Amino acid sequence: MIVLKTSRELSLMKEACVISAGALKTVGLAIEPGITTAELDRIAEEYIRSKGAVPNFKGYQGYPATACISINNEVIHGIPSKKRVLREGDIVSIDLGAEYMGYHGDNAATFAVGDVSPEAKRLMDTTRESLYAGIKAACPGNRIGDISNAVQSYVEARGYSVVRQFVGHGVGTHLHEEPEVPNFGKAGHGIRLMPGMTLAIEPMVNAGHYDVKVLPDGWTTVTKDGSLSAHFEHTIAITPDGPQIMTVAP
Ligand code: MF3
Ligand code: CO
Repeated sequence: MIVLKTSRELSLMKEACVISAGALKTVGLAIEPGITTAELDRIAEEYIRSKGAVPNFKGYQGYPATACISINNEVIHGIPSKKRVLREGDIVSIDLGAEYMGYHGDNAATFAVGDVSPEAKRLMDTTRESLYAGIKAACPGNRIGDISNAVQSYVEARGYSVVRQFVGHGVGTHLHEEPEVPNFGKAGHGIRLMPGMTLAIEPMVNAGHYDVKVLPDGWTTVTKDGSLSAHFEHTIAITPDGPQIMTVAP
């Protein structure tokens, strides 16, 4: 079932999303060579709780932390650790969200640690731009497949691949709601987009092949071919006037 939100619900949800975006921005500013992923996770949790919100990943299907922090060939769901130290030249994907007044926000971004290679930069730029291409297609009357196809064609035109085993999703009073929002698919296919829908669009883009595998910790997902991967995500609302990005930092 897809839940359409009223404007009152959307304004509550917007608060959860702004907290999520503020947390992501705050973690982003703390990224530097030498910091551990556990320290970044602590910064995220402290920010979210300081706003009276709750880290919505923590405890979700047993997930042990506030943020998913994934380095280089890690695609998503990296578990923060005191033993993981960021190094100059790494790229690091931070994915986190907050629950506030019963509503959820969810967002992600990939950051450079110090100076990174031109290839890593191009991968990050392409992934961010593909998210915006997907958001642009999220207009009432379009279909889910229009979002999917916009992301996929943007990415593949630049020689990269979109991950197939994980997808975006509806978001609202639960972190994950219907519908699924794949980052690949056919324009004109899938359910029709309607005002009041709230979606997390989140392209995961690999420099090499799209295949991924989950490590024995049960969470950390890496590229099968060892290539770099980037991830950007916004929570958006579909309004009569078009898509509105909800995860905007204060
Ligand atoms: N951030 C993921 C998503 O965007 C969810 C993370 S699963 C969790 O859908 F268990 F880590 F929370
Ligand atoms: Co998500």
